[in-house]
Amino acid sequence: MPREWDARTYDSLPLPHLGWGLRTLGRLPLRGDERVLDAGCGTGRDTEGLLDRLPSGRVVAVDGSVRMLDQLRERLACRLDRVDVVHADLTRPLPFDGTVDAVFSVAAFHWIEDHDALFASLASRMRAGARLVSDCGGRGNIAAVNAAVAEVRGAAPGGWEFAGVADTERRLAAAGFTDVEVRLRPDPARFEPGEQLESFLATVILGPDLDRLPAEEHEPFVKAVAARLAEPVVDYVRLEISAVRA
Ligand SMILES: C[S@@+](CC[C@H](N)C(=O)[O-])C[C@H]1O[C@@H](n2cnc3c(N)ncnc32)[C@H](O)[C@@H]1O
Repeated sequence: MPREWDARTYDSLPLPHLGWGLRTLGRLPLRGDERVLDAGCGTGRDTEGLLDRLPSGRVVAVDGSVRMLDQLRERLACRLDRVDVVHADLTRPLPFDGTVDAVFSVAAFHWIEDHDALFASLASRMRAGARLVSDCGGRGNIAAVNAAVAEVRGAAPGGWEFAGVADTERRLAAAGFTDVEVRLRPDPARFEPGEQLESFLATVILGPDLDRLPAEEHEPFVKAVAARLAEPVVDYVRLEISAVRA
C-alpha cells in the first residue's frame, strides 16, 4: 500500500490543492445523479464538493492512506450514506462493486509511478462514455524544490511520476481512452517564510524523505531544504487531463 499521511496537519495547511480541486470540479460536467470515483480522495475536501454537485448521486472515495480516510469520515460524518469509502491502491484491481460514471482526481496521480497500471485500473471500473478529469504534478513539477532536496541529501529525490503531455496521451490511448486532452500549467504557490513553508514542505512534499530519516533529523532536514529556496515558493507545474472511456 502507499505511504501514510499526517492527515490533520494536511487539513490545517493553506493548500493550493483547494484551487486545483475547484478548477478540476469545474471541468467535470455532471447531471447530479451519477456515481463518481474520487481517486486519491485524501481527507475528502473535493469528495464534499462532488456530493454538493450530486444531489441524487454517490461518490466512491478511494485512497491508500488509512489516516486520510479517517479524516474524510470525520469531515463527511453526516453524508456517509452517499459515500463508499474504499482503502485501496489505485494501481490494483479496485475493491468496489460495479462501474462509475466519471473519475475525478486531484494531486494524486504523480504519487503513483506506474501510470500504465493506474489508467488500466481506472478504465476497468468506468462505464463506456465515462469521463476522467484529473490534476496532478506534471513534467517540471517542483524542480527548484527537488534541486534543493538533492543538495541536502546528496542525491536526487525519486518516487514520483511527473509525466509529460505526449507520454500521458499515449498511455491514456493504450488504456482505452478517447477524446484525450492533456496540458501542462505552471502554477507556483507562495507561502509565508518560516513555519508555514516548512510545515507545508514536511507534510506534503518531503514525506517520503522524512519516512527514511530518524525523527530527530526531520526538522534540520526540512529547514535545510527551505533555506536553499531562493523564495518561499513551490514551483508547481500541473498536468491536467480530460479523457473519455471508449
Ligand atoms: C496530496 S494528497 C491529495 C489528496 C486530495 N485529493 C487533495 O487534493 O487534497 C495525495 C493522495 O493520494 C493518495 N495516494 C497516493 N498514492 C496512492 C495509491 N497508489 N493508491 C491510492 N491512493 C494513493 C495519498 O494517500 C494521498 O491521500
